[in-house]
Formats: sequence, structure tokens, C-alpha cells
Amino acid sequence: MLLAIVIFLLVPENVLSGTLTLPCSSNVLCGQPVHQPVSLRIIGGGEAPVGAWPWVVLLTELGYVSCGGAILNNRFILTATHCFLGKSYDPKRWQVMAGKHNLNRHDPGEQTVNVTRIFLHKNYNNETVANDIALLMLEQPLTYSNLISPICLPTEDQGVNTGENCLLAGWGATRGTADQMVLNQVILPIISDDICSLLDWYGSDFLPNTTFCAGYEQGGQDGCTGDSGGSLICRRNGLWYSQGILSWGYGCGEYKYPGIYTDVSKYGSWIYDIIQQNTVCNSPVG
Ligand SMILES: *[C@@H]1O[C@H](CO)[C@@H](O)[C@H](O)[C@H]1NC(C)=O
Ligand SMILES: *[C@@H]1O[C@H](CO)[C@@H](O)[C@H](O)[C@H]1NC(C)=O
Ligand SMILES: *[C@@H]1O[C@H](CO)[C@@H](O)[C@H](O)[C@H]1NC(C)=O
Repeated sequence: MLLAIVIFLLVPENVLSGTLTLPCSSNVLCGQPVHQPVSLRIIGGGEAPVGAWPWVVLLTELGYVSCGGAILNNRFILTATHCFLGKSYDPKRWQVMAGKHNLNRHDPGEQTVNVTRIFLHKNYNNETVANDIALLMLEQPLTYSNLISPICLPTEDQGVNTGENCLLAGWGATRGTADQMVLNQVILPIISDDICSLLDWYGSDFLPNTTFCAGYEQGGQDGCTGDSGGSLICRRNGLWYSQGILSWGYGCGEYKYPGIYTDVSKYGSWIYDIIQQNTVCNSPVG
């Protein structure tokens, strides 16, 4: 009986199978854009439909576009530890912009909030780039709207599948392939660990236990500088999940060097514990 109670208290309940439920979640549905976006069968990159990815946020450091991130609830943003090395560890330098589309103008409904804490993974390794995951806590809660809402997180048993088409959106470098001032999206298939570990691919630099590769052997379509920290999202049963965090790669869109993503399904308890330890559940959190 005692054991049962302890387990009940410690294990996040799965309301939707495969979906990690965060502490003090309200009835806000994750992973459901109001503006229905794309079919994952369309291969190609380009400007995202406005409002298609309402969890996508832009992280700015001292006002400069720096990394991407995804809304987990109205106080927490999922991103990458490598975005915060050196002086960048100071939360006062950072802001989160939600509901954003076009960097050249004020978007109707956009919200800019200050960051109050940065949670880096203590086992981040700046040589192997292992454990490249971070959370940001916001000074003020985001207000959800048609343009601002959270992404779902996968449970540990819901990792990516080889060949599955997933999607990355961000304001990263496009090197002339698209307008860099708007939110761009690209569809990226999951590549098997065996292929990504081949010697003429990433070889032993690729860490199959906690990361995966997504993209194309021939290159061309990929995330790039500025997209880092953004979520690779995959659709399951009509809901979108953050399955990966863009971590690193050799160049952008290079032959046999696809993007490497932190496998979010392996970090559910890390995310859950930080949010739980920093959330007062009687103040409603989306
Ligand atoms: C965000 O931080 C800036 C700089 O510290 C401050 O001037 C501003 O008032 C803060 N915004 C809010 C809404 O607290
Ligand atoms: C990696 O971390 C070590 C120890 O903190 C530091 O001395 C070194 O400069 C870092 N390397 C890079 C490339 O940031
Ligand atoms: C990867 O995971 C396997 C199976 O869980 C384990 O045996 C192995 O030690 C792990 N490798 C690393 C480098 O962590």
C-alpha cells in the first residue's frame, strides 16, 4: 500500500497514453495548433503558415536572435544547454518571444517575457555535446491564445522511429534558401542510429543512447545556426510532440551530416522534476 502511494505520487500520470503530464497541468491541450498546419508528406522547406506552430519561441540574448525553444507550459521553455555557455548563463540577458512570425515587424498577439532562471543539464559535456537540454523559467507567465500554446512531451517509451517524418521550425540561418526574417519550417525524416554511426557519417561522435539524427543523406534541408534549441516535432494520434532538440551538426545541410537532436523521450524525469520543484501548484499553470 505504501509502495503504491509512493509510486502514485512520483510517477507522472499518463492521461493520454504516450504523453508526459507535467505538474499542475490544467485542461490546456498540448500539441494542438488552432491553425491546422501541414501534411507531413510534403517534403520541402519554406515559410511556416502563421500560427501553425504556437509553441515555437525565439530566444534573444541582449536583443539578438540566438536560439529557438518550445513552450512546455506557461512558465517553462524547453531548449538546449549549448545556447547558454560563457556569460550567456545570466538570465537577465535573455528574453523569450512567443506568438512571433516576422522578425521585421510587431506581430499581432506576440508576447515578450523575461527569463528568471536558466536550468542547464549538469552532465552537459562541451566536448561530446552530451545532455544538450535546458529549461528556461519565465518571469511572467505566458497568456495562451490561438498563437501561443504548449507542445506535448513524449513518455520514455515513445521515442522516434526510423523513417518517420518530423518537422523543425525556426528563424535560423537560411543562407539564401528562404526569407530568414520569417519562421521557416522543414520536414526531416528520422535516420537510424546505425546509419548515423557509420564511419563516413558521424562515426563515434554520434551518441545513439541520448541523441538521434534527422535529415537527408544528400543534405540540403537541415536546421542551421539560430535554430539550435528548437524542437523537432512529430505527430502521434493527432497531437504534436517535441521529440528532439536541435543540438549540433557538422555545417548545415552537408552530405551525410544531418542534424543531431537530443532525444527528449530520455529526459522526461529531468524535465518533470525541475518543473515540479519550481512550480506552486495552487497557482494555475497551463
Ligand atoms: C524585463 O527586464 C527588463 C530589463 O531588466 C526590465 O526593464 C523590464 O521591466 C522587464 N519586464 C518586465 C515585464 O518585468
Ligand atoms: C569546455 O569546458 C571546460 C571546462 O569548463 C572549459 O575549460 C573549456 O574551455 C570548454 N570548451 C569549450 C570549447 O567551450
Ligand atoms: C547505451 O545504452 C546501453 C543499453 O541501455 C548501455 O548498455 C550502454 O552502456 C549505453 N552506452 C553509453 C555510452 O552510455
